[in-house]
Amino acid sequence: MRLRRTLLGLCFVAAFIVPVKTMVEGQSASEAPAGFDNQTNGFTTQAVFDANKDAFEERETIEDGLGPVYNAQSCAECHQNPVTGGISQVTEIRAGHNDASGNFVDAPGGSLINDRAIDASIQERVPGAEDIRAFRTSLNTLGDGFVECVDSNTLLAIAFAQPSQSGGRISGRFIQVPLLEAPGSVRGGRFGWKNQHASLLSFSADAYLNEMGITSPLQPTENTSLGRSVAAFDQVPDPENREDVGRFAGFIRATKAPPRDEALAATFDAQEGSRLFDQIGCNICHVRTITTAPAGSVINGGQFTVPPALGNKKIHPFGDFLLHDVGTGDGIVQNGGQSTKNELRTAPLWGVRTRGRLMHDGESLTRNEAILRHAGEASGVINAYRFLSTTQKSRLITFLSSL
Ligand code: HEC
Ligand code: HEC
Repeated sequence: MRLRRTLLGLCFVAAFIVPVKTMVEGQSASEAPAGFDNQTNGFTTQAVFDANKDAFEERETIEDGLGPVYNAQSCAECHQNPVTGGISQVTEIRAGHNDASGNFVDAPGGSLINDRAIDASIQERVPGAEDIRAFRTSLNTLGDGFVECVDSNTLLAIAFAQPSQSGGRISGRFIQVPLLEAPGSVRGGRFGWKNQHASLLSFSADAYLNEMGITSPLQPTENTSLGRSVAAFDQVPDPENREDVGRFAGFIRATKAPPRDEALAATFDAQEGSRLFDQIGCNICHVRTITTAPAGSVINGGQFTVPPALGNKKIHPFGDFLLHDVGTGDGIVQNGGQSTKNELRTAPLWGVRTRGRLMHDGESLTRNEAILRHAGEASGVINAYRFLSTTQKSRLITFLSSL
């Protein structure tokens, strides 16, 4: 679904500005709880949170169904910093090639090249012909229950407002993706570097299969090794893991949002940096505040009802959950179609102070370098950044250190 540049009559944009304001700054909304403290946000009891967290941290073995091809042994191996559910330095590899018409084609068996296998003979490696290759860093999942509860129309409204905020330069792409738990239904994608999923149940089933090699009722088909069956090595049936996917989603839904460093945020430098962040337009994509749908809203193709703990909450993700071409595209297509090959989701900056390796590939090691790497839709904003004085730039980066 392409919503930018084609539908942008001025009245159309104007018609959407009011909804953005009411949805984004709804009066009765309260602040979502935030903290790196291993405490439930109220979606489940603390006892259920702790049990679901144990499942997220559990190290699977071959006896539990691990592999045959996989990336790591537990969700927490890649989602852990500074507490379970956060990020890590672990990356994954995706690869494929373009066909004669320039369309991206997955490597045999899918673009994800698993880094590990339970038997050396089925180890995947990038074949030479698959010359489009990309690293993808692990993402934060803390607070993602709130993100799941954002109405798709709220994201759409942000997309519609962007051109008028940027002289037409910036317009996020909203895509609709399938929900594994509601076959035949689609929803506004918001999770993953390519917005490839819209629900935490879908992402958890996908991750269990693709990261750990464990099938589930939502993802019943085992992966291959570059297209070759690994059935001979798959001695253990995985369906004992029927409940795990629900536990992972239950854990993530009950996590608090990443908190600010309040002491740093209160300093003059961080406040001045925060003002500059808005003044030069970083906040057009790195959206400061979004309000979740009211409790009782039915989402995910009828499979989830927004609970009071997650409904009508203000979050500060510093992201728009939309795809943009900022000149860093990795050429890989997932759920969004060929036109998304060079687009990535705006990296939500909440919790960015816990990340040492930045951007989708982890190749930018300083905030300044990450900012200067933005081009494409972000060019105007990044030029404004270049024109800041050294002191102003360092204040903006101090602000990032408070996120
Ligand atoms: C080998 C490391 C690794 C393991 C193990 C892993 N993940 Fe991830 N996770 C990633 C990476 C990398 C991404 C980003 C993938 C992308 O979009 O390309 C990600 C993204 C996610 C996201 C999307 C977060 C967002 O805000 O967009 C969720 C949810 C998630 N993982 C859940 C899980 C669950 C549940 C498990 C366990 C079943 C798991 N992951 C296991 C590396 C891992
Ligand atoms: C047109 C939308 C857009 C604008 C404007 C924009 N960004 Fe981004 N930003 C993105 C996207 C998309 C990514 C992810 C790119 C990638 O991974 O290759 C990103 C990534 C980042 C990251 C890396 C975060 C991480 O977790 O890896 C930082 C830091 C960042 N932006 C800061 C800024 C600052 C500061 C500004 C203003 C000077 C800005 N951005 C303006 C879209 C934007």
